[in-house]
Amino acid sequence: MKAQIGVVGLAVMGQNLALNIARNGYSVAVYNRTAERTKKFVEERVKAEKILPSYDLQHFVQSIERPRKIILMVKAGTPVDEMIEELLPFLERGDLLIDAGNSHYADTNRRLDKLSEHGILYLGTGVSGGEYGALHGPSIMPGGTLQAYKLVEDVFLKIAAKTEDGPCCTYVGNRSAGHFVKMVHNGIEYAIMQAISEIYDLMRKVLKMNSEEIGQVFERWNNGELSSFLVEITYKIMRRIDEETNKPLVELILDKAEQKGTGKWTAQTALDLGVPTPSLSTAVFARTISHFKEQREQLSKIFGEKHKVNADKSLLQDLEKSLLFAVFLSFSQGLWLISEASVAYNYNIDLLEVLRIWKGGCIIRAKLLDFLRRILKENPQNVNLLASETAMNFLKEKLPSVLKVSSVAREASLPMPVLSSCIDYLFSLTEENLPANLIQAQRDFFGAHTFERIDKEGTFHVEWQELE
Ligand code: 6PG
Repeated sequence: MKAQIGVVGLAVMGQNLALNIARNGYSVAVYNRTAERTKKFVEERVKAEKILPSYDLQHFVQSIERPRKIILMVKAGTPVDEMIEELLPFLERGDLLIDAGNSHYADTNRRLDKLSEHGILYLGTGVSGGEYGALHGPSIMPGGTLQAYKLVEDVFLKIAAKTEDGPCCTYVGNRSAGHFVKMVHNGIEYAIMQAISEIYDLMRKVLKMNSEEIGQVFERWNNGELSSFLVEITYKIMRRIDEETNKPLVELILDKAEQKGTGKWTAQTALDLGVPTPSLSTAVFARTISHFKEQREQLSKIFGEKHKVNADKSLLQDLEKSLLFAVFLSFSQGLWLISEASVAYNYNIDLLEVLRIWKGGCIIRAKLLDFLRRILKENPQNVNLLASETAMNFLKEKLPSVLKVSSVAREASLPMPVLSSCIDYLFSLTEENLPANLIQAQRDFFGAHTFERIDKEGTFHVEWQELE
């Protein structure tokens, strides 16, 4: 009997995805470069599931029914290219490779073109939800040809997370659309994680709350408008006690945030496409700054004591509104980037569908997504959610609280890069006259770069200084 689908790469994500597929009634062939891991997986985790292990790549490929559908769950970057090279001699026209890792969308385009020369179909597929999601239902973002998607649609719809709006999987769009959307998903993830951390910082340093108290507040917020996976894990993190020291574990974790690249790619792409995503980009820099632990220790001594600020717990309701403000603007910046990319790269992405499949399974799932969908439905042609009066009213209602929180943080010399960038983003976009006129004049002054005028058509240059 041949397997209906194959999974290459049996790190935890690959194992869990294979089990998820098998538990949904499919037979799954599995292969891992090191045989030891495959053996361990089969011995320790496979029970009644129809999982067929292979210890040889050719055998693995031949154990799958045609046209073959093979999911690659290997580390993004060179390992994906290497695995494709290894698989290629055994594949036949019409077979389908699915890259379910966090690949860069440009790599996906390149691989798609290369494989199509061999008649092999390719789906660059974003999968979000971490290890738990892979096993119990992730959010799945496949991109490529519709023909390729149709080959695995039934499997994907079955294994995806489910919400009242259906399974969290849709055909995202052409070529690398799926990996692009997953990349921006992660860019938004970085911004929301940073915003939550900024609020946490203020709670512990200004409101002098302990981790248990902070956890209680996040738990309360999670029952309201802020209900989301990232807020939920935050209150759970606050509660975890380190067994060795009996202290809250979070307080013992070194404040150096790591990153694997998707947030950085989002920022780079936004700059390339000329779309403003300051909150997403600054969240990447916040992680970068966190890395300079030794420097920060030295500089904090030179800077000296920071202001002691008195604020009482009534600030908590302002913090809740501030977080909502930041989460909303992080999503709207990411969506704007996706819609510009959709035009620039002919992805043909349906943003409403993207928001729908982010409602379950993924790391940025949040109640707020229903509100975002409502706004988008009101103005489907608007790439910028802020063009909606409903959105603007939502933000303006939060603004007094946001400004209060910002001023308390400023007075205490506390960094709030994401929250601050959200304020400036809103103020800049809603400002009819920006001081860019002066920048244009300066450019023309030193470099004859020319400028446009508000009172007549054309391009102008003046001699601002005597050259001789
Ligand atoms: C997801 C996550 C996941 C990502 C981690 C780590 O959607 O399940 O985005 O794909 O790998 O969040 O990312 P960083 O190491 O860059 O923080």
